[in-house]
Amino acid sequence: MSIDNLITHPARVPLVGASILAADFADMGAECRAALDAGADLLHVDVMDGHFVPNLTMGPQMCRGLRTALPEAFLDVHLMVARPADFVTAFADAGADHLTFHVESEGRPAEVAEAIHAAGMTAGGAISPPTDVSAVMPMLHWFDLILIMSVNPGFAGQRFMDSVLAKVRALVPHLRADQRLQIDGGLTPPTAAAAREAGCDVLVAASAVFGADDYVRAIADLRGDARVVTRRS
Ligand code: DX5
Ligand code: ZN
Repeated sequence: MSIDNLITHPARVPLVGASILAADFADMGAECRAALDAGADLLHVDVMDGHFVPNLTMGPQMCRGLRTALPEAFLDVHLMVARPADFVTAFADAGADHLTFHVESEGRPAEVAEAIHAAGMTAGGAISPPTDVSAVMPMLHWFDLILIMSVNPGFAGQRFMDSVLAKVRALVPHLRADQRLQIDGGLTPPTAAAAREAGCDVLVAASAVFGADDYVRAIADLRGDARVVTRRS
């Protein structure tokens, strides 16, 4: 099943997701507004539970706050939690558009994906760098998006792992036209270019967006959009 939204839209322009993990948490609304105004297609919300990954971040309340402040924003939630099934309803109620969970987490991925669709969201399946692409290959038809992690999940600001691009190349021929291939972690203009070339069409970055002085330039560089001219102050 697929739901018509930004993830399943057939346009093949690479989407850029701004991961709010590297935003100024004391100024979150303004940071997100600035990223969207600068051209980000979606806000990527990294949810960590201290079990699946060794860090704690945010939960449905952040999603609800963003939905209220930014009604038009596409909210892409990336669950890095041990039991994703427990949080599907909470994120749907909080206004998430899309929910990605790791196939390495507990529960039956098909049932979790079905619950996400039933709750009115699109569904993503993620694999961490140590997980072989064969783990997700038999599951592709359940998902609207596959997320290939290019760092070990848990923290922003890590180095991109080139080795995961082999997984991207292996997946591309197996995806339908209405499925997206997302990459997340360590993206900079050169690593984003390598990811796009390998076949990724949703590029998620935290540090490269919120650590930049010029969000317009940063997002255009990740997308590979040479048309955007640097905004000068
Ligand atoms: C890592 C998160 C990423 C992270 C990316 O566990 O899933 O979304 O925020 O951060 P950068 O772009 O700084 O590597
Ligand atoms: Zn993420």
